[in-house]
Amino acid sequence: MRQAELVVVANRLPVDRDENGGWRRSPGGLVSALEPVMRTVDGAWVGWPGQAGLHVDEFEFEGTRLVPVTLSAEEVEDYYEGFSNDTIWPLYHDVISVPRYRREWWNAYRKVNERFADAAAAVAASGATVWVQDYQLQLVPQLIRERRPDVTIGYFHHIPFPAYGLFSQLPWRRQVLEGLLGADVIGFQRTADASNFARAVHRQLRHETRASGIRIPREDGTIRVALAKAFPISIDTASYIEMAARPDIQQRAIQIREELGNPAKILLGVDRLDYTKGIRHRMKAFGELLAEGWLSVQNATLVQVASPSRERVAAYVQLRDEIELMVGRVNGTYDTMGHTAIRYLHQAFPREEMVALYLAADVMLVTALRDGMNLVAKEYIASRIDNRGVLVLSEFTGAADELGSAVRINPHDIEGVKDAIMQAVEMAPAEQGRRMRKLRKRVQEHDVQAWSRSFLTALATAREANAS
Ligand code: G6P
Repeated sequence: MRQAELVVVANRLPVDRDENGGWRRSPGGLVSALEPVMRTVDGAWVGWPGQAGLHVDEFEFEGTRLVPVTLSAEEVEDYYEGFSNDTIWPLYHDVISVPRYRREWWNAYRKVNERFADAAAAVAASGATVWVQDYQLQLVPQLIRERRPDVTIGYFHHIPFPAYGLFSQLPWRRQVLEGLLGADVIGFQRTADASNFARAVHRQLRHETRASGIRIPREDGTIRVALAKAFPISIDTASYIEMAARPDIQQRAIQIREELGNPAKILLGVDRLDYTKGIRHRMKAFGELLAEGWLSVQNATLVQVASPSRERVAAYVQLRDEIELMVGRVNGTYDTMGHTAIRYLHQAFPREEMVALYLAADVMLVTALRDGMNLVAKEYIASRIDNRGVLVLSEFTGAADELGSAVRINPHDIEGVKDAIMQAVEMAPAEQGRRMRKLRKRVQEHDVQAWSRSFLTALATAREANAS
């Protein structure tokens, strides 16, 4: 088989297994971002097929070569659920949940990162570009460089990079920094993430950091430069606009409102069920507005889609219990026969249904306590082709850096969240339009295709600079 000019390495393959043992494209934004690029070059995607112990041979899917990496049940526990999602995830999200530092997990993380690096090194053509994705694979850039000094390596970090005071808790902080520095370009969501990283590198490894990049001394006395910079990710805006214009989806939006008993206002939250998303804060604020009579179930319903996620990690199990207790309490107190306070859906929906929900929602609530970007905020905006609707957005999301015309909140400030919800519920249509138009301009100009282009351009520039 031909070697690949562009190799994407991500924890997950861009496909999900269907009921018949076949594959379907997964709905993620990264998949649609890279699809056009992968089509024009000889591309390969290295990733885990999503099930423990599943061995599958390489295969072609919609023109892309997919290279599955097998994980045993124990590796799923230690590398994925353990180190990735019970150590790095909570630590990098400002310890909202307490990170656990376990040596067995670290050992599994190292071993699995080596396996991903081996697979990537084996498929990359001479002088290829390899693009590593996210926190599950932080050691992979360096491991690939050791195996294949001829390739150009990019890494993009989809989640926050924490301040040094938190990052320095990690017992393996040096190894992680050295792993990331194997890349020629290290991309982050926000400038603040890139600065946190550069500071950690400076404190731990003493490398000199300049505007042009981090200077890493090689053994032969020469210097290699790695660029750490913000490349805020986005969505496939055009596909949301297209869906929002479809008569069947618009009809579905009307039907959703009817099925909810025609409340005057629909408020919406859409998240993976994750403790970083501030779902409890949002429900607390909404419950208090009902208790104090500012809202009633006749005039407002909160629809909360919480898609199942990482269901075997203890912090997620506990969060689900807490949320469901809260939903039960609020609904038990305020529901009537015909109206519900919170319509809670612990389910995942196809993108078409999500767009119908976005169109039905007068107010979108994004109350994350910490979030690398938050693409739901951007999906809502892209879907509002009618220039209506209000986005309430936490300042602790990467998206807040770009979406200045949203109603900003500090989700920890419950009174502030209540005020923002009331401001959104009562906002005049003209004001909604004024804000929404500005928000839409941003997501139209900065879509995910522009994101991948700018990252790959930076990578090509880095390749030339390090070659000269
Ligand atoms: C976040 C991470 C991704 C991850 C996704 C879903 O967006 O940045 O890397 O794939 O969550 O989580 P999961 O653990 O199901 O892959």
